[in-house]
This record gives sequence, structure tokens and C-alpha cells, in this order.
Amino acid sequence: MKAVILVGGEGTRLRPLTCNRPKPMIPVVNRPFLDHVLDYLKRHNIYDVILSMCYKPDVIEGYFGDGSHLGMNITYVVEKSPLGTAGGVKNVERYLDGPCFVFNGDILTDLDLNAMLQVHQERGATVSIALTPVEDPTAYGLVETDGTGRVLGFIEKPGWDRVTTNLINAGTYIIEKEVLRHVPADSYYMFEHGLFPSLVQRGDPVFGYPSSAYWIDIGTPEKYINVQRDLLVGKVAKAMPVGCLQEGVWLGDGCDISPMAKLTPPVVLGARVTVEANVSITGPVTIGDDCHIGPESVIEDAIIWQHTTIGAGVKMKRCVIARGCTVRDNAWITNNAIVADECEIGSGNRLEHGIKIWPNKVIEPNAITF
Ligand code: GDD
Ligand code: MG
Repeated sequence: MKAVILVGGEGTRLRPLTCNRPKPMIPVVNRPFLDHVLDYLKRHNIYDVILSMCYKPDVIEGYFGDGSHLGMNITYVVEKSPLGTAGGVKNVERYLDGPCFVFNGDILTDLDLNAMLQVHQERGATVSIALTPVEDPTAYGLVETDGTGRVLGFIEKPGWDRVTTNLINAGTYIIEKEVLRHVPADSYYMFEHGLFPSLVQRGDPVFGYPSSAYWIDIGTPEKYINVQRDLLVGKVAKAMPVGCLQEGVWLGDGCDISPMAKLTPPVVLGARVTVEANVSITGPVTIGDDCHIGPESVIEDAIIWQHTTIGAGVKMKRCVIARGCTVRDNAWITNNAIVADECEIGSGNRLEHGIKIWPNKVIEPNAITF
């Protein structure tokens, strides 16, 4: 079976991390998020993947190429303007030769695709929609089903007063190719409030496939930090890097760690990371290639991308620092603060409370204090 991955969205809610890259290229445990998704597909014997793209497609294609180094065959199809989720799949119809999997490109899951396919076939469904229970369904698409799993209706991103179920559309579908007949070509059209409701209204066999398998989307910075944490504590099968120094600490090639530094798992360091004396790193923490951590700095529950330099006495807790940044001595970055690419954070700054620093900004010393 082929898989279509929808990766056309602009990742608005993940800005400023998505200013220079689409959401699937955000690093998770030092690899683009999409790399984890492709691994997951390979584990289910899916090797033929079509990427339905729109926003910054070159970044994705430049990294993954034709997929042969992964043992996969990747086809890229780019929209001139956004066609929506169903329009994005319609736009790749010529590459499909039968039923296919469709994935939202910002989902990480352990869902058993082969079991889902078997149930899809047994039921003779034209569309099967993976469902997952969540605590707060208001940020998602609710899917109402009857006792047999047949879909009765959809409520996309309702207020709490309209919530009727905690089962949401998990962004993984099996669709029979012929349903694409009902999707207008070259037009903006959505599965969620276009194709699926209209199929249900016509009486087509559209089924939900509930599962309690691990599931998360990386739609917001908070969830992005949580995904990383979940991977590091092993909630998702086989997602961790190889090369374990000690239980829960992974070092890339050429790292230089002071014997006076303390690393508390789970911690992942990329290649050529240098860590100076009296640094304390308490996982979950991921640090990308070619980063430097200055003496006496304290880092906890943080994500640092490649080529970033952290000065002395810096405190970081639950934050994201993107690539190529410089954080000067004694700055504090905590509490869901996000610093985008190539920023310089002057000494003594206090960044907190989900503050977002856009790319290429220079924050003068002591300029921001919460
Ligand atoms: N090719 C293409 N073209 N892809 C698109 C487009 C487009 O115009 N618009 C969005 N996408 C891709 C995004 O890149 C993403 O991978 C996926 O479609 C879903 O878009 P999101 O913007 O992430 O949607 P959402 O998170 O608000 O809601 C969707 O996902 C939820 C699960 O996370 C819906 O499918 C909900 O019903 C669902 O519960
Ligand atoms: Mg999403």
C-alpha cells in the first residue's frame, strides 16, 4: 500500500519555529519529525510514500531526496496554492493505484496500521478514520460513531458545549481511491468538513477505528516539547537514536564532556557537543550537533537545536532554542519560552511565560525581564 502524507500546512501555531522550515522538518531528538514518521511507515512495510506539499517544499525534498538512502521511494507533489487536506490528496491521485493510507504530517503514533487495514477490508469500508481519545477534544475534529463503529457525524473543533465524545480524528485514514471522485480537482477542499461528512450523508460505509495506541500531534510548542519528552522516556517504540553512553544518555561522535559536568537521563547530545565544567543537564534534554554549553549552566527539560552556543551560568528550563543561536552569560530562558533561529540573547535577560523570539533578533543585555 502507498501512503500519502499531508505536509502542506504552514505550521502557524508552531511559529516562530516554522518561519524557516515546514513543520515536518522540526527536529525531534535531533532528527526531522518526518524522519520518525517514515521510520514508523517502514516498520509497517510501507515503502512507497507521496508527500503532498505546499509550504517550503524545497526544505523537505532537499533533505530526503528520492528516499533511496532510507530504502523508500518518495514522490513529491507541490501545490501552487493550498488545496486543503482532501484537495492535497486529489492532487496526487495520478500516483495512486488502489486504496491508500493518508496521514496528517504532524502526527506521531504507534497505531498498528496492518490491523487497521484488516478491519477496513473486513468491513468493506470506503474510508476508515483512526480515532484516539483525548482529554481536551476542543482543539480537534470529533468523530461520532454508532455501536458498530460506523461514522454518524463530525464536529470540527467545537466549543465545550458541543463536545459529545472524547474520540477525535487521529489524522490517519485508509481511503479507497474511488472516493476521490467526489473531490473537486484544483480546488481547496477538506476531508474534515467536506468529503467525509458528504460521504456519510450519502450513506457510504465510513468507519471509525478507535485505538488507545500512543498518539500525539506536534501542532503547538507545548506539544512539541511533550513529544520530545515522550520519545526520551520511551513511550514510543523504536524512536530513539543508537549509541548509548550509559543508560539514558546518548552522545554523538566527537562530544567533549567535562568530567565535572553532570548529565542526568534522559539526555541526547548530537555530534561534537562540548559541555564545560559544573554544567548540570537534567533530562529530558536534547542538544543538536555542534553546540557548546558554557560552565556552571543549568539545563533541564529543554530542546536546543544545532550550532547554538550557551554561555556561562545560563539557566534553561522547559524551553526551545533553535539553530545557530547565541545565549550570553547568566541569561534565563524558562517556562515555554521559544527562541527561533540565529538569535542572540544578551546576558542577564529573563525570557519566560511562552515568550517567542522571532528569527535573527538580537536582544540587548538585561532588556527583557519578567
Ligand atoms: N498538501 C496540503 N495542502 N496539506 C495541508 C494543507 C494544504 O492545503 N493544509 C493542511 N495540510 C496538512 C498539514 O501540513 C498537516 O500535516 C495536516 O494537513 C493537518 O493540518 P493541521 O493544520 O495540522 O490540522 P489540525 O491539526 O488543525 O486538525 C487536523 O488534525 C487533527 C489531529 O491532529 C484535523 O484533521 C482534525 O480533524 C484532527 O483531529
Ligand atoms: Mg495538526
